[in-house]
Amino acid sequence: MGLGSDIQQISSAIFYLISRPKQLWREIRLLSTGSCVGYYELLGDDVLEGHNQAFSLSHKPLWLNLGYWKEARTYPDACSAMARLVADTAELCENDTVLDVGFGFGEQDLFWVENYRVKRIIGFNITSSHVERARQRVERRGLSESIDLRVGSATEIALENESVDKVVALESAFHFDTRVRFFREALRVLKPGGKLVLADVVPAIGEKPGGLSHWIGLRRWGVPRANLYDREVYCEKLRKSGFVRINANCISDDVFPAIARYAEQRSRGLSMEEVRIELAADEIGSGKGTALWSSRVGLMDYVIFSAERPRT
Ligand SMILES: C[S@@+](CC[C@H](N)C(=O)[O-])C[C@H]1O[C@@H](n2cnc3c(N)ncnc32)[C@H](O)[C@@H]1O
Repeated sequence: MGLGSDIQQISSAIFYLISRPKQLWREIRLLSTGSCVGYYELLGDDVLEGHNQAFSLSHKPLWLNLGYWKEARTYPDACSAMARLVADTAELCENDTVLDVGFGFGEQDLFWVENYRVKRIIGFNITSSHVERARQRVERRGLSESIDLRVGSATEIALENESVDKVVALESAFHFDTRVRFFREALRVLKPGGKLVLADVVPAIGEKPGGLSHWIGLRRWGVPRANLYDREVYCEKLRKSGFVRINANCISDDVFPAIARYAEQRSRGLSMEEVRIELAADEIGSGKGTALWSSRVGLMDYVIFSAERPRT
């Protein structure tokens, strides 16, 4: 996107906001903090901006990820499929103590305990309203014994060295300040041979988000600039942090085209339950769905990363 169209878009946004002082104030606050907490308060109970139903629907699933749409046709199914992909990559099993960082409303933790029977999950999240609501949901399901959710940051994990079998971060690590500090913490708390799995979004290989609209998009969303590197650099940083058996599985084609279509359908007034996504073969991999992400934040590569702490 050129500077001219950047300026045009931004000036029309400014004119729009000047006539709405409350929203203008909110935008200024979002841009000045650079933390994701304000953004998540704004999202409320929906992954899409502007669709917050203020937790008024008790049956509404509270996922906050883009979903893995390879076989799923609805948003909740796509989100559970994403949680399943992370769990399968991490080889979650009954004996595992799992550290989950950036758990949103805890939807994935309920899923992993109920479907993978993991022994224990300890979660950290910096958005305290997420932690509060997630805890209530865990309690209501009678799973407080196995799921322990706390307020805390990925970059200062209040756990003993070598205390967990797996560390997972489902669509949250791009927020961490910085992601590399989290890698070091993950290595520290993992037992030898333990596994780290991340579902993460990064710039396309060799690219770096730039320009005013990306700066605004990333700042609003709370993504530090230090985290803007592609999957090859990412793997190198994992290696330098001490991890081995590093793998990167790109799933962009099964994420972006469908979530873009989902967002479009919701913007037409359809509810989460009403939207079913059926993509034609030529729409997958056509790059259509990445346009939205590419113009807003410049992160177009959705990758499942896995790595292990060496056994010795
Ligand atoms: C996109 S949401 C994903 C939520 C959830 N994993 C899901 O799939 O529904 C990102 C989450 O990461 C959390 N988060 C962001 N930065 C964090 C940090 N530094 N430490 C811990 N959690 C963080 C946010 O509060 C939010 O709950």
